[in-house]
Amino acid sequence: MSGTARSRGGSRVQLTLDRTVNVAPMMGRTDRHCRYFLRGFSTRMLLYTEMIPAADLVRGNCARLLEFDPEEHPVALQLAGCDPQQLAAAARTGEEAGYDEINLNCGCPSDRATGGVFGAYLMQRPETVASCVAAMRAAVRVPVTVKMRIGVIEGRGRAAVEASRRFDEAERGALYRFVRAVRDAGCDAVIIHARKAVLGGLSAQDNREVPPLQYEVVSQVKTAFPDLPVVLNGGLREPDAILSLLDVLDGIMLGREAYHRPVLLARLDALVFSREPNPSSLHPNRETLDAVARTHAIERMQRYIERQLAQGEKLSAVIRHVQGLYAGEPGAHEFRRTLSEGARRPGAGAEVLAAAVASTQAR
Ligand SMILES: Cc1cc2nc3c(=O)[nH]c(=O)nc-3n(C[C@H](O)[C@H](O)[C@H](O)COP(=O)(O)O)c2cc1C
Repeated sequence: MSGTARSRGGSRVQLTLDRTVNVAPMMGRTDRHCRYFLRGFSTRMLLYTEMIPAADLVRGNCARLLEFDPEEHPVALQLAGCDPQQLAAAARTGEEAGYDEINLNCGCPSDRATGGVFGAYLMQRPETVASCVAAMRAAVRVPVTVKMRIGVIEGRGRAAVEASRRFDEAERGALYRFVRAVRDAGCDAVIIHARKAVLGGLSAQDNREVPPLQYEVVSQVKTAFPDLPVVLNGGLREPDAILSLLDVLDGIMLGREAYHRPVLLARLDALVFSREPNPSSLHPNRETLDAVARTHAIERMQRYIERQLAQGEKLSAVIRHVQGLYAGEPGAHEFRRTLSEGARRPGAGAEVLAAAVASTQAR
């Protein structure tokens, strides 16, 4: 699939997407304000929404959640569900709203997922997921992708922890059956969180730290399915490590690090998309690059906040996502405190950002 086409709504849809750098779907974080903020660090990366249940979307309960700013493109909508027709209808709604990709969540180990409704639980049902992907694929022209784990295990206690660390041939067989099923159903790319989901044994939060990451398993998926774009997710932090992974994989997806240290996205943009012959030559300019990215982000968000406040949005709803702008820098604490206090002041506006920046220098 390549090129562009007209969507039903008449707008232009992009049928091929650059998947080199992606920001992960994160409930409670990657809402439209967060995505707008992060877009300021790189125009090329692909941004994902929070997960939206297909059932809610079809019932019309989430229209507001679908809203996004044109500057967010390219942006992918993540859906949750296991009913092919419902997912197809939700995917169509997403495409009509202008999303550039529809993604199915098969990686979330939350309690609702273990109740059999969505998420990592679906990795035990490759045929069901294949039916869902085929229905979504038939319903939209934009890419349909799957976000998944390297495997799932059920249970609690020591045995589950031990099992979660292993990766044996039976597990590889299950993983490849799943990938083959979704690829054959028309999935355009898989995004693989490189650790197993532990169903019923760990909280979703704990299951983002343990079991250990197994990047080599994801690289082996790429070797086994060379024509399928494979994006690796989980625990990525350092640009050099990311660049090495990009030698073998089609892309990387950053979750927490992108949210808590967004300036990293500007660094990655320079390293990955500028096609520098010697990326390490950019390292001496890191401070300058970071400073330019921060100034640009502040100016852009000041204008955005003014527009959002004029439309009746709460200042705190936008500003909470900017907290990580000075992460790891002198003045980070003052920046965060000035932002939080400023956002609570009645009548406060975009000037809170400038005050927070000034506070980093007044230490
Ligand atoms: C607060 C939070 C919410 C998340 N919500 C979702 C979600 O809605 N859908 C999803 O597929 N993954 C979700 N994830 C998992 C991330 O997409 C990602 O797979 C995980 O954080 C590992 O990547 P990281 O180590 O780069 O953070 C969430 C993660 C966090 C921290």
